[in-house]
Amino acid sequence: MTRLLVRDLGQLATPAGTEAPLRGEALDEMEVIEDAYLLCEHGRIAATGRMRDLGRLDGDVEEVDGHGLSAIPGLVDCHTHACFAGDRVEEFALRAGGATYEELHAAGGGILSTVRATRAAPEQELSTATSRHRDWMLRSGTTTFEAKSGYGLDRDTELAQLRAIAAAGGLPTWLGAHAVPPEFPTADAYLDFALAEVLPDAAQLAGAADVFVENGAFDVGQARRYLSACRDAGLALRLHGDQFTEQGAIQLAIELGARSVDHLEATGSEGVHALAGSDVAAVLLPASALFLGRPMPPARSLVDAGAAVALATDFNPGSSFCESLPVVCSLAATQLKLSPAESLAACTVNAAHVLGLAGRKGRLAPGYDADVVLVDATDWRYLAYHLGHDHVAAVVLGGRLAELR
Ligand code: NIG
Ligand code: FE
Repeated sequence: MTRLLVRDLGQLATPAGTEAPLRGEALDEMEVIEDAYLLCEHGRIAATGRMRDLGRLDGDVEEVDGHGLSAIPGLVDCHTHACFAGDRVEEFALRAGGATYEELHAAGGGILSTVRATRAAPEQELSTATSRHRDWMLRSGTTTFEAKSGYGLDRDTELAQLRAIAAAGGLPTWLGAHAVPPEFPTADAYLDFALAEVLPDAAQLAGAADVFVENGAFDVGQARRYLSACRDAGLALRLHGDQFTEQGAIQLAIELGARSVDHLEATGSEGVHALAGSDVAAVLLPASALFLGRPMPPARSLVDAGAAVALATDFNPGSSFCESLPVVCSLAATQLKLSPAESLAACTVNAAHVLGLAGRKGRLAPGYDADVVLVDATDWRYLAYHLGHDHVAAVVLGGRLAELR
């Protein structure tokens, strides 16, 4: 069956227009059709409109009853660390007792404890884990996801991670500069190895490169060296920046023409205005700030100043064990003071832009990929309003109903 019709929807909601990324007031402009239908054909959206304007459809059409539901674009998670082995539940309990993320990291725990578990896992186990995490994401409405390596930090495990992510249907990013592994005396010595021995193969498997710019990870000079080499190898650039302290990640992102700088919990007004005047997207991760009990990023200032703001989960075992973009949208409304419309645009159109997929993903409009979430409410804003609810009645992926596990 190549055609699928979703009929009698309470609402169909999509970011308006065709532009990407959306900035300023345009981020808040949603097109909402009441009593709507949506027609998919050959994996793309063929038409949307009011039920009363739906003409006769000849030939084979699979029908889905949309009564009581609303349709939104499939959600796009543009920042995850979904490929890992093991967990950090012990560390979580220690943090609940007062230990900080930075203390655990400095003591050889944190990221490095997941590195140990991931190095010990065969590639098949990494694939199975990543697919399981993808299924969790899909259950929450994520139809497109990016995932980073960065828990191998040796050649074989980094490449195995990138392959496991692709095998699970994700878009791989090489986070070759996530932490300095213990077998290297300095960050520079590790980068010598990573750029000479891993980058040539990583560049064949990944679409982007990422670096963690922070005290105890990589400084701006090291990040510049890593990212410049990755850019020369054809990769798009991303940065983890201003998570705990401002180190100059925003200025470096602008200098190098990066796609995005992500986190920004510590960003001040200078950084906000620099980003707003640039083509670098600001990817905000409020579930991570919540999970670590950190300040929220300056989302309202970024949107109002005109920055290209996207939202993502940062799903990972240490700083954000949360795969749900609906939860992120709830946090965006309650903590970041973004409207439900701004939140939806930030994790659809703008997230697709960060992944280089604007024009294909993130809208319910003719020609876009037929990735659709059917929300279990006739007002689509329940996605953000109903905190922690299981919102997803069904998902259409590439024009077909997906099996939710
Ligand atoms: O985005 N801050 C750096 N990296 C991840 C956390 C990874 C981990 O704790 O395992 C982040 O929060
Ligand atoms: Fe991250």
